Amino acid sequence: MRLYIIFLIFLIFLSSIILLVLPEKSSFESEYQGKVLLTSDGFGYFVSFIDDEVKIKEFFDNLTQELAKAIPVSPERITTNRRYEIETDTSCILSIDIERTNNKTERKSSLIVSDLDTLIKNKLTTVIGSGEYTNYLDAEYGYQIIPSWIKENWKNNNTFTIYSCANAIERLVVIIWYDSAR
Ligand SMILES: *[C@@H]1O[C@H](CO)[C@@H](O)[C@H](O)[C@H]1NC(C)=O
Ligand SMILES: *[C@@H]1O[C@H](CO)[C@@H](O)[C@H](O)[C@H]1NC(C)=O
Ligand SMILES: *[C@@H]1O[C@H](CO)[C@@H](O)[C@H](O)[C@H]1NC(C)=O
Repeated sequence: MRLYIIFLIFLIFLSSIILLVLPEKSSFESEYQGKVLLTSDGFGYFVSFIDDEVKIKEFFDNLTQELAKAIPVSPERITTNRRYEIETDTSCILSIDIERTNNKTERKSSLIVSDLDTLIKNKLTTVIGSGEYTNYLDAEYGYQIIPSWIKENWKNNNTFTIYSCANAIERLVVIIWYDSAR
């Protein structure tokens, strides 16, 4: 009987571990939307063609290509909807996204998120600082995920897997508990 209780506690422990670990693992194919901040130099360059849609597109393309090279990942993993938001009169936020892949040898999107953030934050010592466009990114700001998007996705895409897994363990616990009580 005491053995069953120890086993029960172990299973509850196991299910909480699974609940903690699973969201990380299941982000394998997820897509992230994030943002970077332009330095005042970058902002100065960016506003010089702010009314020219072709140049804006070029700028975003050049920046995302350099970012992909810096990580490095294939260029189609780093994309942008070319949205920007002028923050103050010296800086501007740009939208940069990370695409999912079916190629198992490619880097996971969740790792690209942390790679980008680390590379930008350490741009003085990384390739980011020597890139023509990536050098325009603010080191303190790094790469920031847009949180509401994550929450939405997590809710819609992953919770079901997590809960069905935890439920299966709980059902097992109940069965064992029931057997031990007989
Ligand atoms: C983007 O890069 C291309 C090729 O290097 C260059 O010709 C173009 O001027 C760049 N665009 C901007 C907006 O800097
Ligand atoms: C998968 O990614 C690796 C590394 O980037 C690349 O060398 C390989 O060609 C890719 N395979 C396919 C099928 O795209
Ligand atoms: C959920 O996952 C699917 C497929 O992986 C994806 O197309 C979709 O954008 C994700 N997000 C939401 C909110 O459904």
